[in-house]
Parts: sequence; C-alpha cells; structure tokens
Amino acid sequence: MTPFSPEVAHCQHRWGCQLPSPCSTATPFRFAPVHLSLRTSCPDPNPVVKNRDMAKLVYIGARPSQYDFLKSIPFYYRPQQKTRPKHFVMYAGEGIDVKEIQSDQNRIPRLYYRGEHRHDVTGMGRKGFQDKLNDSFKSGDLQAVRGTMSEIMTSVFEEVTSKDHRDSGGFSALESMVDVFLTSCLEDRAVLQSLATMASGEFSLSVHGSRVSAYAAMFANYHRLSQDDAHPLCMAGLLGDIGIVGIPEEIVLSDTRLEEGSDELAAFQAHPVNGADTLYSGGLDDMFTLAGVREHHERQDGSGYPQGMTEFTAKNGVKIGEVIAIADCLDILAHDNRPYRAAVGISGALSILKRDADQRKFDPDVHNAIVQGIAGQRKTKVRKSP
Ligand SMILES: [Fe+2]
Ligand SMILES: [Fe+2]
Repeated sequence: MTPFSPEVAHCQHRWGCQLPSPCSTATPFRFAPVHLSLRTSCPDPNPVVKNRDMAKLVYIGARPSQYDFLKSIPFYYRPQQKTRPKHFVMYAGEGIDVKEIQSDQNRIPRLYYRGEHRHDVTGMGRKGFQDKLNDSFKSGDLQAVRGTMSEIMTSVFEEVTSKDHRDSGGFSALESMVDVFLTSCLEDRAVLQSLATMASGEFSLSVHGSRVSAYAAMFANYHRLSQDDAHPLCMAGLLGDIGIVGIPEEIVLSDTRLEEGSDELAAFQAHPVNGADTLYSGGLDDMFTLAGVREHHERQDGSGYPQGMTEFTAKNGVKIGEVIAIADCLDILAHDNRPYRAAVGISGALSILKRDADQRKFDPDVHNAIVQGIAGQRKTKVRKSP
C-alpha cells in the first residue's frame, strides 16, 4: 500500500479511487496531473476504503444546497453495503465540483464531509450564498433572490430539526409562513434595498440575517403566532445587522475581543441604533420591526447594548428584540469561528444560551420557547420562571 495521506491510501485519481491496487504503482498523488475523468474510467469500478481508521473518523451529512460552494473540500458517500456500513468512499476530491461528477453519473448519493471541515463548510457556504444573492440583486432577478433566501432558511430548518419531524409534515406550516414572509419582502422596496445593501458587503450579513430570520420563523410557527405577529420578528431578524455595513473590517472581524471603552467597540455597539435609523430613513416604518432591530443586543438584566435597557418592546406579548437577541447569539455561537472563540455547533450554542438564561441575561421562558421552537420538541413543557 502506498500511503499518500495519513489516514487513507489514495490512487492518483483525485476524484477518489481509494484502493492501492491496481493504482498503487501509479504516480504519487501530489505529483499527478489532475484527472477529471470520472468513476467510470477507474480501473477499480467499486473502490472501498480499506483503512480501519476511516471508520473512526467523524463524517457530517452535507446538504445539497451546499454542493455548489464547497469545491475545496472532499466529499464522501457511504456505499449501500450491509457488511461495511461504516466505510466511506470519496465521491469528489478537493477542487472538483460535485456537478462534474453528477453530470456523468446522473444522480448524487447522499454526501458527507469530514468533521474537521465543518467550519470551512460553514464559511464557504455563507460566502457562496452571499455572492449568489448579490449576483441576483445585480441582475435584477427577484425570483432568484427569493429562491436563494428560501434555500438559506430551509437549510436552517434542516439543520436543527429531526428528519422524522420533517417527514411527518412538520415543515408545511413553517414553509407557508416563510413563503408569505418572502413575498412581503419582495413587494417592499425598502426591504429589497436594505437587503441588497447587506448582500453587497463583505461580512455575509444577508446570509446571517436570513438564518436569524429562519430561527425567528421557527419560533413564530411553533407558538402559532399570526402572520402579522410573525412579520416583525422575521423582518428584524433579517435586517437587524444592516447597521454593521460600513464599519471597518478590522473592527467587525477583529482577531481579538474589542477593548472595553475603545472607540472601536463604541462604533460596533452603535449598529443596532444606526441600523434602525437607516431602515427608517429608507422607508421602513413598522415600529415593531424597528424596535426589534434597535433592541437586538439588549439583555433583560441591563448588561446589553447600546442602551442597557431592561424592558423590551413587545407585540401581543412577544418581546421581539429578545427573541432576535437569542436567535442572533445562537447563529453566531454555533457557526462563527473567531481566534478568541471557537464555534460550538447548535447544541453547544444552546447550552451557552441556557447558562445565560439561568443567569437571567435572557428570560428563561423566552429561551425555552425558542429551544422548543427550533428543535420542534412539541412535547417539552415551557419551564416557568421562579
Ligand atoms: Fe447585531
Ligand atoms: Fe447579528
């Protein structure tokens, strides 16, 4: 066996033949020309990973919506072999578009990527969606804008709910709610203008906003809010960070936590109020949406910013800013990798938020209501505040 990587022996075919024989005598992987020939040309038509260690590696299912953006990581699939249920086979090697493979094979099996690539996948996916949205705005194709937003939001639903829940039709009401919401976005010039501004920037704000909006929609759907009451939640989630546009990159993507009392921190912490002002002057006048934007970094114990307020604006009993604050933290903690803070995934983020709720930074009832909403845990009771 000729090992070309620590965990598995590759043949020279970058698309993923894993068997040492008959390929082991071939040119070593790193010196080989890039073969775009597909599986049908492999000397072994059914390559299987033989290295025992492969079974121990962690693999994560990739969503089809990600395939377009993840060219720089390898994809794997699990052959339907009962005798080797834990073995994975490389499907598309690094640098190869899944579509190149698909065009030859006519169908894509369920694909996986290795756990160590999780954060690369998130970053590449966000950048890809942001670019796609920006291109759609530039070409004036609003249906494409809608399609991409819908893809992003659906990817959130798929990420946090069980397959059983989806298969049992748990998504249909949620999808209808999102559908109505997206229609209202496309009909509102102020919203489109704001979203286009966010999509043209550097920080994937339109993708982050769509994801926060998706969490808010799950909350609204689970608690049977009317479309009218769901609207400011989804809208404040979507546009909440527009005030970040224009803040220098070294502040927004700082390698270290911004220093207490610094001008940089003050500039960043002004984004909720600046964002609400920008939206209002752009023609968005729904007071609940604007309040949600303004209050989405406040905390009920007064430790938030920019005003340190302890009371949130509520519509029919729903504190919009607090719901968005929790949804926003959930997305950032789960997926945003920084030198001073590793992304911890959805369950890790929920644990951190639970701790914050226990310390009364968030209302425990609101926290629980969001957990129930996003997890679809319909049998879990909402914990009462003492
Ligand atoms: Fe924010
Ligand atoms: Fe945010």
